[in-house]
Amino acid sequence: MKLGVVVLAAGKGKRMRSRIPKVLHPLAGRPLLAHVLDTAQALGAARVCVVYGYGGELVPQRMADYDCVWVEQAEQQGTGHAVMQAMPSLRDMDRILVLYGDVPLMEPTTLQHLMDAAVDTDLGMLTATFDDPTGYGRIVRDKTGQVVRIVEQQDATEAELRIGEANTGFLVADRARLDDWLARIENRNAQGEYYLTDVFALAVQEGVEIATSHPRTLDEVYGVNDRIQLAALERAFQRRRAEALMRDGVTLADPARFDIRGRLHAGEDVSIDVNVVIEGEVRLGAGVSIGPNCLLRDCELGPGTEVFANCVIEGAVVGADARIGPFSRLRPEAVLADEVHVGNFVELKKSQVGEGSKVNHLTYVGDARIGCDVNVGAGTITCNYDGAAKHLTVIEDRAFIGSNASLVAPVEIGAGATVGAGSVVCRKVPAGKLTVTRAKQTTVEGWQRPRKQGPGSG
Ligand code: UD1
Ligand code: CA
Repeated sequence: MKLGVVVLAAGKGKRMRSRIPKVLHPLAGRPLLAHVLDTAQALGAARVCVVYGYGGELVPQRMADYDCVWVEQAEQQGTGHAVMQAMPSLRDMDRILVLYGDVPLMEPTTLQHLMDAAVDTDLGMLTATFDDPTGYGRIVRDKTGQVVRIVEQQDATEAELRIGEANTGFLVADRARLDDWLARIENRNAQGEYYLTDVFALAVQEGVEIATSHPRTLDEVYGVNDRIQLAALERAFQRRRAEALMRDGVTLADPARFDIRGRLHAGEDVSIDVNVVIEGEVRLGAGVSIGPNCLLRDCELGPGTEVFANCVIEGAVVGADARIGPFSRLRPEAVLADEVHVGNFVELKKSQVGEGSKVNHLTYVGDARIGCDVNVGAGTITCNYDGAAKHLTVIEDRAFIGSNASLVAPVEIGAGATVGAGSVVCRKVPAGKLTVTRAKQTTVEGWQRPRKQGPGSG
């Protein structure tokens, strides 16, 4: 059985009031359409055909990573017309499943249930019962409960408008029969469009029994028409992800104040305080705790590491039992060994820090190799950039860098060396000795501080 998936994504999304096509607006950091294409992939589709229109080539360009067939629907003449554009690309398929580029939370299992329900017939649809079905096509059933037709909101009678069960738009059909039905639908209706839903009436006329099934939750069938609905679906998505993580053993201080836009791999007993954002691939070892207001992007933290409030960690790798923050920033290629302490207002970039070393206050370390048990004093700066190129600072094991030192790279500090506070170091510092570059302290005897003149004195 070869499954072909059609994704309708031609709409402008007028109510988004945006220059960007609706299906490219992000949900959890990725375009709406990307979520739908992932779902198609999860179902094992043999071919995915996306019908695009508004925004032109921007949509296929942005989705270039996905293996699908792109078909342009230049003029939007209805959902039936849209599916017709895709059919020539799907001639060798057995079954066709129709998905929507602006309905991002549909679950593969729900679609699998729909396909299973329709396995012995030629047409199946996903329906749902809404408290307020306004805008949806209503499902008209006969006395035996068989689906007779779908009536669109604009074309419905008073009695039909009171039907709560509605068409979610998702359908599965035999490819050859769908081709035949689509060739026969017309656009004589309130909107002058070719309605995909008209295939149901044709199928009924031909005695095809229409299979129906339902989603697990209504979130799955909600589409995005404006930014308010987009935000609502974002929250629904985040709640799902938060609940899945909690079920997997992650403690979230407040699942409503947690956002994930990527993937989190968490060991046992990870705990995450409020307002934490996870982006890209994040790996947290067992027992890691993340304080409030942190952004973690594409990083890895070893077991037992604690991150205190207000840290930004991106592209960094941290060992076990480290302490980061509050207010630390780890930038790409910061590689910290076990038990490293990084404190307040410290920025680390493209630097290795060896086991047990401490960089605790108000420091910039960039392009550096720091050994074990090094103490980098408050306000230390690696002057790594000369305006043209970046240079390396090497600090060997057990060195002690006094406060407010400037280490002008390329430069090396030997093992066990001490650099006096306030020094500007431009040359190699020998191991095991004290090096100071600051001016000697002098006291001027008899010096008087200037005084302000009193009023009227000239
Ligand atoms: C459609 C269904 C309705 C169902 C509802 C669920 C039809 C005729 N009606 O109505 O029964 O209850 O979905 O949300 O199918 N699109 C195109 N090209 C077009 C027209 C639409 O790509 O020419 C895309 C839109 O961008 C949108 C989707 O198809 O993503 C649905 O189209 P829309 O016009 O919004 O259909 P509804 O009126 O919501
Ligand atoms: Ca719609």
